[in-house]
Amino acid sequence: MTMLSNLAPIPELYVSYDSAQKLKFEAANLKSLDLTPRQICDLELLMNGGFFPLKGFLTEADYNGVVENMRTADGSLWPIPITLDVSESFADGLELGEDIALRDQEGVILATMTVTDRWEPNKSREAEMVFGADDLAHPAVNYLHNQAGKIYLGGPVTGIQQPVHYDFKGRRDTPNELRAYFRKLGWRRIVAFQTRNPLHRAHQELTFRAAKEAQANLLIHPVVGMTKPGDVDHFTRVRCYEAVLDKYPASTTTMSLLNLAMRMAGPREAVWHGLIRKNHGCTHFIVGRDHAGPGKNSAGEDFYGPYDAQDLFRQYQDEIGVEMVDFKHMVWVQERAQYEPMDEIEDKDNVTILNISGTELRRRLAEGLEIPEWFSFPEVVTELRKTKPPRAKQGFTVFFTGFSGSGKSTVANALMVKLMEMGGRPVTLLDGDVVRKHLSSELGFSKEHRDINIKRIGYVASEITKNGGIAICAPIAPYTSTRRAVREMIEAYGAFVEVHVATSIEECERRDRKGLYKLAREGKIKEFTGISDPYEAPATPELRLETEGTDVDNCAHQVLLKLEQMGLIGLS
Ligand code: PPS
Repeated sequence: MTMLSNLAPIPELYVSYDSAQKLKFEAANLKSLDLTPRQICDLELLMNGGFFPLKGFLTEADYNGVVENMRTADGSLWPIPITLDVSESFADGLELGEDIALRDQEGVILATMTVTDRWEPNKSREAEMVFGADDLAHPAVNYLHNQAGKIYLGGPVTGIQQPVHYDFKGRRDTPNELRAYFRKLGWRRIVAFQTRNPLHRAHQELTFRAAKEAQANLLIHPVVGMTKPGDVDHFTRVRCYEAVLDKYPASTTTMSLLNLAMRMAGPREAVWHGLIRKNHGCTHFIVGRDHAGPGKNSAGEDFYGPYDAQDLFRQYQDEIGVEMVDFKHMVWVQERAQYEPMDEIEDKDNVTILNISGTELRRRLAEGLEIPEWFSFPEVVTELRKTKPPRAKQGFTVFFTGFSGSGKSTVANALMVKLMEMGGRPVTLLDGDVVRKHLSSELGFSKEHRDINIKRIGYVASEITKNGGIAICAPIAPYTSTRRAVREMIEAYGAFVEVHVATSIEECERRDRKGLYKLAREGKIKEFTGISDPYEAPATPELRLETEGTDVDNCAHQVLLKLEQMGLIGLS
């Protein structure tokens, strides 16, 4: 009997155990690159066959093909650039043909790579072609411009060992482990469900229906590598998935965790997800409305049309080798007390159709409101409430930004005292001057040093927020992209309230409380914000304070009102 192609072993990039031991020693002499979390995710899937047919990080020719027409140089379908981005200084020291060691963040060697290619990519072009727009509101475009290194290296990878995971080990499978599992159970048709969100009853219904319709078994295949900033953390999600898994009839369904770093690239991402599932032994894949959508662009519109992902997938379905299964929009029909696909309900006018959107769910969790049993399983709601307590019980960060002398520190101090008077949560003030003394005493005011300073503040504030406290920050923080990076760090744990203290530069200079503006005008202080250095005012802060003609007490009160409006404190 010939083995079904979706179940035969898939090539990996690992060498044998003995060769790996030898390579580990030899690699001690190679130049080392400590990979970023995203690169580690990519490397894991390259090595274990999840990104088959890729044999390493893309070469320049492969990259150009992938960006321009979704194909590597040899014509294979591949929609997302898997690139090894590095700094100019690391790239400059390399010879083409040289082997480098790829290590995790603790320095453990994972692989070696022969550097065959080194080039400076056109990132704007990559953004336009792969993500559809060169718009920083797209998380992957922001990553591309603000986090990824300037130079790409390409070449074949030799796998030494898998990245180490300490969590949910038993739930992680390589493509070959899943293929072997399907072989063992005699599963031949397998529908995969990709997700980065907790599963509720509608998901359970739609995935089960999809499997039934395709006469297939079901693989719940959630992403635990990197998802969209702000998503529910994967620890919580996996506990939720485990609860939902019990609701499927025994031996129809399994779950495996996928250490993928998502890009939120909509249509191209859907095709990529299909190829990855094919490599994991699946025959069918559920693609929904706005699959892997990144949210709104900077003009407030969706990046992709709701069915673009399904359209592109359908176009390439034969080549991917995985059949697309429509995602049915399931709604609760109250009179019949069951879920039904929206487009199959014939008596829509005579029944009550209920649904809770993602936004509404987040609001209910944030405000501690009821979440009905028809919507989710009690175990799932309990888990979500544990990690997402109501906003009034979570930590948060108030981040003041504005010119020197704008009044940031004064208002921040007043706010701190008012919050301490209210009590309930510990309050920490990270004032610009104080931080410069205790955390950043060695730093100056170049862009690079200011960024380091702000990221340190962001890191401390995110730890405070995570632990349920209130952090008040009051640096100048002149750069939009750095403030955004801080926002992302903090929003993983609680609210980020950006307050622009919008005192004009003329007024700050007129007040000149520290005499610094005079010195800056005289050229005695260089790179002075607003005089000889830029300040990028926030476009959409949570609050803008006009301090001219308003006293400090009133400014602090405006912040309190904002906090109350956001549900972070109760003023009564
Ligand atoms: S930054 O850009 O956010 O890192 O700056 P920050 O740490 O908030 O700056 C703190 C104070 O440093 C004083 N100072 C300067 N500000 C701007 N530019 C230059 N070159 C400079 N040199 C010193 C300034 O008084 C800042 O104080 P406040 O008033 O707290 O903003």
